[in-house]
Amino acid sequence: MTDPPSRLDRMIARLSRQRSVLEAAAELITDLDGPILEIGLGKGRTYDHLRRLHPGRDVYAFDGSIHAPADSVPPRDRLFVGDFRETLPAASADLAGQAAFIHADFGSEDRSRDAAQAQWLGPMIDPLARDGAIVAADREMAVDGWQPLPAPGDEAWPYFLWRVRG
Ligand SMILES: C[S@@+](CC[C@H](N)C(=O)[O-])C[C@H]1O[C@@H](n2cnc3c(N)ncnc32)[C@H](O)[C@@H]1O
Repeated sequence: MTDPPSRLDRMIARLSRQRSVLEAAAELITDLDGPILEIGLGKGRTYDHLRRLHPGRDVYAFDGSIHAPADSVPPRDRLFVGDFRETLPAASADLAGQAAFIHADFGSEDRSRDAAQAQWLGPMIDPLARDGAIVAADREMAVDGWQPLPAPGDEAWPYFLWRVRG
């Protein structure tokens, strides 16, 4: 019997898949105006990559607390700190129907908590997306009007991609 992948192998697979998916999503929204939303700033790794992929766009980030290095945190007017259940509806005041790409990177080691969160998070993200927007996530979500797309990259780490009301 072969050993399961090590934690190092899994981290490499995760980060490599994220980069592939974020870069594919950038291609998919070339003709679509609108800001980028990072739901789960975490350590700022994917936020930092997204702002380099989209130099002409505003990139907003959401998290319950800030634990990213200061140079990978967006300016205060593009940062929403607090539980997603409060900050996503608050963001709708300015951003409803505008986002061209939303990256929901909220997974933890607690898969049952993540599955429960995925159920309410998808419908809460949906009103922020413009028609034809792309959503990527590290956990599966099911939202009416989201059409699954093939997610590129190393399938050793699951990732999900959708087009919204395309
Ligand atoms: C996987 S990490 C994000 C990693 C990040 N994208 C990066 O590349 O460094 C998930 C983040 O989501 C945040 N998070 C999860 N559930 C949340 C919730 N309900 N409200 C606010 N933040 C939440 C956690 O605090 C954590 O920082």
